[in-house]
Amino acid sequence: MIPPIAIIGGTGLTTLDTLRMTRQESVTTPYGEPSSPLTYGEIGGRPVVFLARHGQQHTLPPHRVNYRANLWALRQIKVQWVIAVAAVGGIRDDMTPGALAFPDQIIDYTWGRPSTFFEDNLTHVTHIDFSEPYSAELRARLIASAQSLNLAARERCTYAATQGPRLETAAEIRRLERDGCDIVGMTGMPEAALARELGLHYAACAVVANWAAGKTAGEITMAEIERHLTVGMAQVKTLLARLLPTLEPLQP
Ligand code: HPA
Repeated sequence: MIPPIAIIGGTGLTTLDTLRMTRQESVTTPYGEPSSPLTYGEIGGRPVVFLARHGQQHTLPPHRVNYRANLWALRQIKVQWVIAVAAVGGIRDDMTPGALAFPDQIIDYTWGRPSTFFEDNLTHVTHIDFSEPYSAELRARLIASAQSLNLAARERCTYAATQGPRLETAAEIRRLERDGCDIVGMTGMPEAALARELGLHYAACAVVANWAAGKTAGEITMAEIERHLTVGMAQVKTLLARLLPTLEPLQP
């Protein structure tokens, strides 16, 4: 059986209408239940499994997402490629709302989230290499697909993973900027690290939903976020349709 390509959908992508759905399956893992049932289907002739990170009804805030169960559930069904779609705020000047960004680095500012599979019943302590937190191969394919479609896509950037669920203060964003962060979101960690612990080829496709706090006058509104996400997620669907047929199964 050809393993499906996993798409983890974030805010603005709780369902994937381009997916020709074949079935849904509720699964459980040693870490509990994933955020949503696994939705199987097909895009561009490739088998796909879709998982809604915040739940099918978008009710799980970032700090309550069971990241371990989500990644474990995907590994259980032999997934190799994981495309993580996520809404972010734009910090760097070119991170305009509506644009897509493919981060190559992360700084983790989250706390208190179960963030490793390597803690209980160990025969030895394990430290994974995480110098390059995303799959270089999957990033390259995402970027090539975006370029071939002439999408406004930022190819290199550092993702700040904040705790949420509140948005940041303007001073926090200035600090993230000094740290070298270009975009800010609430779900990038521990998701990326858990994927690496399981040996999954994981990369993020971020959609800039708003200017980060203090980057424009006035408050950040949900209406603004939703408006830009509608534009951005339409691009994501186009991108996935182009990308997926190019992702061949890997030799196990
Ligand atoms: N900050 C953190 N997470 C986000 C933002 C933001 O400005 N926009 C969308 N997700």
